[in-house]
Amino acid sequence: MGKKIEKIGVLTSGGDAPGMNAAIRAVVRACAYYNIECVGVYRGYQGLIEGDFKMLTARNVSNIINRGGTILKSARSKEFRTKEGREKAYKEIKKAEIDALVLIGGDGTFTGGMVFNQEFTLPCIGIPGTIDNDICGTNFTIGYDTALNTVVDVIDKIRDTASSHNRLFFVEVMGRDAGFIALNAGVGAGAEEILIPEEDLGLDRLLESLKRTKRSGKSSSIVVVSEGDKIGKNVFELADYVEEHLPQYEVRVSVLGHMQRGGAPSCFDRVLATRLGVKAVELLLDGKSNLMVGLINNKVETTDLDHAVKGQHEINKELLRVSDIMSI
Ligand code: F6P
Repeated sequence: MGKKIEKIGVLTSGGDAPGMNAAIRAVVRACAYYNIECVGVYRGYQGLIEGDFKMLTARNVSNIINRGGTILKSARSKEFRTKEGREKAYKEIKKAEIDALVLIGGDGTFTGGMVFNQEFTLPCIGIPGTIDNDICGTNFTIGYDTALNTVVDVIDKIRDTASSHNRLFFVEVMGRDAGFIALNAGVGAGAEEILIPEEDLGLDRLLESLKRTKRSGKSSSIVVVSEGDKIGKNVFELADYVEEHLPQYEVRVSVLGHMQRGGAPSCFDRVLATRLGVKAVELLLDGKSNLMVGLINNKVETTDLDHAVKGQHEINKELLRVSDIMSI
């Protein structure tokens, strides 16, 4: 039987995602509900190393459910990757009498948590927060739905110019190694082609498809490219290549970048974050550790952190087929 949990630390780490604040709020308020203390750790693992902590009460997290980013701030700590860094972090945790941690972030966050747990046996639960949706053990990560809506909104605007000028636009979206954003936003925004790392379309097929599109009478087109796409060229090189081989097209590139990570979270992300935040605290109080909470078929479920990171969250290939049919 582990030590009774009386004080939980919560941190956000890695890329921020809309809905992280709703998750923080849920963790803090669930702690208050169960009469235990909650400590906010600032700047992710870097703040853990530096003892950058603040006690959080239910009232400290008022008016944040609607805010993008993370009030706890985030970082990608290099120091935490070293044994010395993690030792410092453990000392700070002991000093602050923190009994367990809730880690909100993506695969890097969970990997750090697992290493830490192996070395120091501190109970921890992960909450998936990343716009990439590239985590196994949940259908949706916090921030993904908001990012999709942001991307679709922006592509709708780009479409106005594409159609007014009869242009072909390559729109690059985020998703370091995963095509979830590209695939779903691409279908939602009516893109002609979607290039994702999980499925290599190949340059020849891309050219063929764009030729067919032109022949079919379309005057403008949108190709959504995931930043992690493995076609062998970056989006600018790709645009040059297409312009060179298909001079009938006037090509432009739009890289959406960090605008995809900002903004108020969608209702879906707020509800998801709230459900997962409450469950994370309840799991710790139940003596559980090394798990991630996620949503599967609209039920809150748990997965081993290790599986969450190493398992494959497959894209829905059906969407590629549907997209092909739509680009007739
Ligand atoms: O993991 C989220 C993400 O936004 C990826 O899609 C992207 O590749 C990366 O973070 C960018 O990270 P940074 O903001 O540190 O440049």
